[in-house]
Amino acid sequence: MDEWPDFKGKHILSGKQFNKMEIERVMAVAEDFRNELKTRPSLHLCPGNVLGTLFFEPSTRTRLSFESAMLRLGGSVVGFAEAGTSSSAKGETLQDTIRTVCQYTDVIAMRHPRIGSAAEAAEVASVPILNGGDGAGQHPTQALLDMLTIKTEKGTLKDLTVALVGDLKHGRTVHALVELLKHYHTRLLFVAPPALAMPTEIATELVARGIAIEETDSLNAALQQADVVYMTRIQKERFVDPTEYERLKDAFVLTRAMVDAGKPGLTILHPLPRVSEITTDVDSFSGAAYFRQVQNGMYARMALIALVLGRI
Ligand code: NCD
Repeated sequence: MDEWPDFKGKHILSGKQFNKMEIERVMAVAEDFRNELKTRPSLHLCPGNVLGTLFFEPSTRTRLSFESAMLRLGGSVVGFAEAGTSSSAKGETLQDTIRTVCQYTDVIAMRHPRIGSAAEAAEVASVPILNGGDGAGQHPTQALLDMLTIKTEKGTLKDLTVALVGDLKHGRTVHALVELLKHYHTRLLFVAPPALAMPTEIATELVARGIAIEETDSLNAALQQADVVYMTRIQKERFVDPTEYERLKDAFVLTRAMVDAGKPGLTILHPLPRVSEITTDVDSFSGAAYFRQVQNGMYARMALIALVLGRI
């Protein structure tokens, strides 16, 4: 068998950097951790190691799951969640902040509003950078936990039809997820208003790789075909014109009646937070997996931390 890929010292910046073997490795480690944590609260793989969490944009799940992940690996965490309390409020550049935090930590998870910011950080960093979202760019750690969730819910990643719904233009989670799904020859359905369509450069590259993509503006039609529906929030903070957001915010709303009329066995994912795009009566549907997805986030991030620190 081929050697497992070596992640030690690597930055995790984009879904694009992963080959299939690397995706499989992260999922396998995350599954191991998920099993181990059934019988004990934490592992002792990273004692003494410190994770820095630098969140220049709002976050609940990404930051807290990274922090819980490090604590459950036996390590510690320092960081900030409000850029206003860090020296960036005094005008410090991202590069200088990163150079500084590298002196204190062994690995950094960061989120920043600018596309490409994680790559900029990686250029000056002496420790691995884990991109927890760079503006409307990429969100690779979310994509890995999404893959783990699909695999867990469906039992396979092969031969699936996955519908991506909502703000495909600004949604960094879907930008990253398609870069991983392309290794499994998934059939993709893009369900978005024309103004929020998947960026052409991403769609073109997928087509060039032989991925089947269909675009539709009918969520009901997609629900007849999809094995997995990945709902997303309309990304209000990326709109220049607030009236455009108001026009599009309720473009696609998934209700229980729609789910019940959809293909049997449907799995529903959402990176969360949801605003109005999934009504709460969907939550009790057996295929509504978005809170199980949240839990997988911690295992996937534990795997990434342990891997880039070379602890496994
Ligand atoms: C997503 C994000 O921040 O891109 N949230 C997350 O990380 N789970 C999705 C979103 O904010 O809509």
